[in-house]
Amino acid sequence: MSFNRNLLNIIIVLCVCLSWDCNEGAQEREKREIDSHTIQLSSLFPSSSSCVLSSRASKTKSSLHVTHRHGTCSRLTSGKAKSPDHVEVLRLDQARVKSIHSKLSKKLTDRVRQSQSTDLPAKDGSTFGSGNYVVTVGIGTPKHDLSLIFDTGSDLTWTQCEPCVRSCYSQKEPIFNPSSSSSYYNVSCSSSACGSLSSATGNAGSCSASNCLYGIQYGDQSFSVGFLAKEKFTLTSSDVFDGLYFGCGENNQGLFTGVAGLLGLGRDKLSFPSQTATTYNKMFSYCLPSSASYTGHLTFGSAGISRSVKYTPISTITDGTSFYGLDIVGITVGGQKLAIPSTVFSTPGALIDSGTVISRLPPKAYAALRSAFKAKMSKYPSTSAVSILDTCFDLTGFKTVTIPKVAFSFSGGAVVELGSKGILYPFKVSQVCLAFAGNSDDNNAAIFGNVQQQTLEVVYDGAGGRVGFAPNGCS
Ligand SMILES: *[C@@H]1O[C@H](CO)[C@@H](O)[C@H](O)[C@H]1NC(C)=O
Repeated sequence: MSFNRNLLNIIIVLCVCLSWDCNEGAQEREKREIDSHTIQLSSLFPSSSSCVLSSRASKTKSSLHVTHRHGTCSRLTSGKAKSPDHVEVLRLDQARVKSIHSKLSKKLTDRVRQSQSTDLPAKDGSTFGSGNYVVTVGIGTPKHDLSLIFDTGSDLTWTQCEPCVRSCYSQKEPIFNPSSSSSYYNVSCSSSACGSLSSATGNAGSCSASNCLYGIQYGDQSFSVGFLAKEKFTLTSSDVFDGLYFGCGENNQGLFTGVAGLLGLGRDKLSFPSQTATTYNKMFSYCLPSSASYTGHLTFGSAGISRSVKYTPISTITDGTSFYGLDIVGITVGGQKLAIPSTVFSTPGALIDSGTVISRLPPKAYAALRSAFKAKMSKYPSTSAVSILDTCFDLTGFKTVTIPKVAFSFSGGAVVELGSKGILYPFKVSQVCLAFAGNSDDNNAAIFGNVQQQTLEVVYDGAGGRVGFAPNGCS
């Protein structure tokens, strides 16, 4: 009897211990799943699979498919994905970031200059970069489908036009010929639209036989020069706009090879969202696909926007520029909030850009992110830095990789968890790097770049003065 009771006690104790142990194991496993992503290593690299179309873009009104410029889904590559030269991509990315920073600091200097009422014309190019996403838009009558890079960091929409008086770079689709479109109009150089060019492009419009000429340069010797014109734009069969201003570029050069031009989604009066404001109320959303064999979407208006979108106000730091400003207030790595004083973010401010590849952080914020990330990745051997990325791992021999989740907190309480593709930048299996870089100057704005935006639903509500985020925007 007493033996039995003892046995029973032991069994009970054993059971409690076991179940407690089990619970702790489960909890720990669960916590690890909450705080990290485990992904197949191969999923980080391009596959040769055929293109998978976003059902979101196929189903939603006013929605266009978004493709990687070099991906299998792109009209420009006819199904053959070309692996980009990553070092070149990052070199151009740095040039774009430099031009963004110089535009923002020019804005600050302009304020000082204005208050001293001196007038020194300052010119600076913007750089186009190379991590670009493409949509196809119909221009003219009959409509001519053209692949344009969309850019939240600039305003003027333009395409190459015949006649190419000096030079046109090579593009995949036939170059637009205004003389074969019945809806094309030249714009006079005395018009207010011509007057808006200086804020939209950084260069005042000029006159050629009373027609308005524009010129926009993008650093790295990229530029487009031609006539400011009005045309019919066809996004989808139900979304057709007569008389939108655009640049008909007769002299174009630079890094645009393959695409026909650019769709300007910035905040200036001449941008596409501003010109279509009566229809879409300056609202658009997109999802950038996680790989070159998927499409995402670019949707105008409020159609299809998820209820789970969390919004943050557009910050005033970028007022008077094309950019959409954000206020970052914190970063979490693997469930742990980084100890970063709030002034580290608030002093330089931040912005979101569809054309910057790698997010840039203030030096102190980047240092904190890097050390937290390294600590959580200690089981993977480190390897050498490459270009602007200094935290790289050699994943040779691993099938899967477990990476800490990274989340950004923005003012107004929006917390945005990055997708698993928004954390690492894969050069090769033996060199996979943390996809963030530090600014060199504490006063340079942080930039939320397109690697980090992948698979998120990103909503730009220009009229409401806010930007929003939700997970899984491409499906
Ligand atoms: C627009 O201006 C150009 C250059 O002056 C001219 O060649 C073209 O015929 C004009 N097009 C229209 C539709 O007026």
